[in-house]
Amino acid sequence: MINKLQQLKKQILEELSEIKDLESLRALEIKYSGRKGELTEILRGIAGLSGEEKETIGKLANEIKLELRKKFAEQRETVEEKREKEFVDATLPGEKYDRGHLHPITIIQNELEDLFASMGFMVLDGPELESDYYNFEALNISRYHPARDMQDTFYVDTKNKEGEYDLVMRTHTSPVQVRAMQKYGAPLRCVAPGRVFRCEATDAAHEHTFDQMEGLMVDKDISIANLIAVMKELLKGIFKKEMEVRVRPGYFPFVEPGIELDIKCTICGGAKCPSCKNSGWLELMPAGMVHPNVLKFGGIDSKKYSGFAFGLGLTRLAMMKYGVDDIRLFNSGDLRFLEQF
Ligand code: FA5
Repeated sequence: MINKLQQLKKQILEELSEIKDLESLRALEIKYSGRKGELTEILRGIAGLSGEEKETIGKLANEIKLELRKKFAEQRETVEEKREKEFVDATLPGEKYDRGHLHPITIIQNELEDLFASMGFMVLDGPELESDYYNFEALNISRYHPARDMQDTFYVDTKNKEGEYDLVMRTHTSPVQVRAMQKYGAPLRCVAPGRVFRCEATDAAHEHTFDQMEGLMVDKDISIANLIAVMKELLKGIFKKEMEVRVRPGYFPFVEPGIELDIKCTICGGAKCPSCKNSGWLELMPAGMVHPNVLKFGGIDSKKYSGFAFGLGLTRLAMMKYGVDDIRLFNSGDLRFLEQF
């Protein structure tokens, strides 16, 4: 009987050490100590033993019973601890990660792209590193034309066979006009948003790297009335209300006639501040009727077709829309600024 008890204890302890979950632990307990358990059966048999044997075996059985109870309790604790560590509550809300968001210029660009797409305009792209030809020559600005001084240019330090610099960081999005005309011909409606670069002394209204959106429409009988209608549509779409604007003559060699559309400064309401160069108005969108020479560079017959073009200052537009008083904030990378959009 003593051997049997020792043997059983060994067996139970071995099985117990393998237990990994509470269900198996409970099953093991029932198997040995339940009403019909193996250990219970032995303990029951002790009652029928004679005096001395009953005492010795009874004592041993009691010790084994207590020891096993302790071991079961310990194992239960280990299993529960492990289960708590491994437990995943799938109903808890997930951990929140900071998500990036669109830059304010991208937001306004997307809005404009949708607006122009709804009016049948294609959205085109052009190279930021541009040839002197497309940036100037094909826009009716020959190499020594004084109009080159209107745009402080970053020339790239490579020269052509004639020893002239012929690559520039594009100073405006207008080169896309000629590229588009050459590629698609007439009739044509397109906008071309993108970054442009100028060797500027920066201030609240001037950046060296900023965004523009070129617009071009070429068809039969296009007049300045079409241009004004599109400009109005654009401003209404962005500001969602009537904006105070003024139109004055403007000179650009690639349009004739040329106009400048200014917007009443939304920062000071026209009272004059650094954001509008103390004029109360902000130059937003120069435009005009495409010069016949430019149509010719684009391979379009200027006797059959006419067109308008504009060069919207996208970064300036974002300043006015969002009430940002310093243009330099847009490229600052300052999260305190960017996280407001
Ligand atoms: C041009 O760049 C012409 N290509 C626009 C054009 C296109 C005229 C088609 C006619 C037909 P301008 O240099 O004025 O023009 O620049 C256009 C707009 O870009 C300005 O009205 C202004 O809103 C913005 N802009 C110009 N310089 C800066 C600058 N340094 N920083 C921020 N925005 C600027």
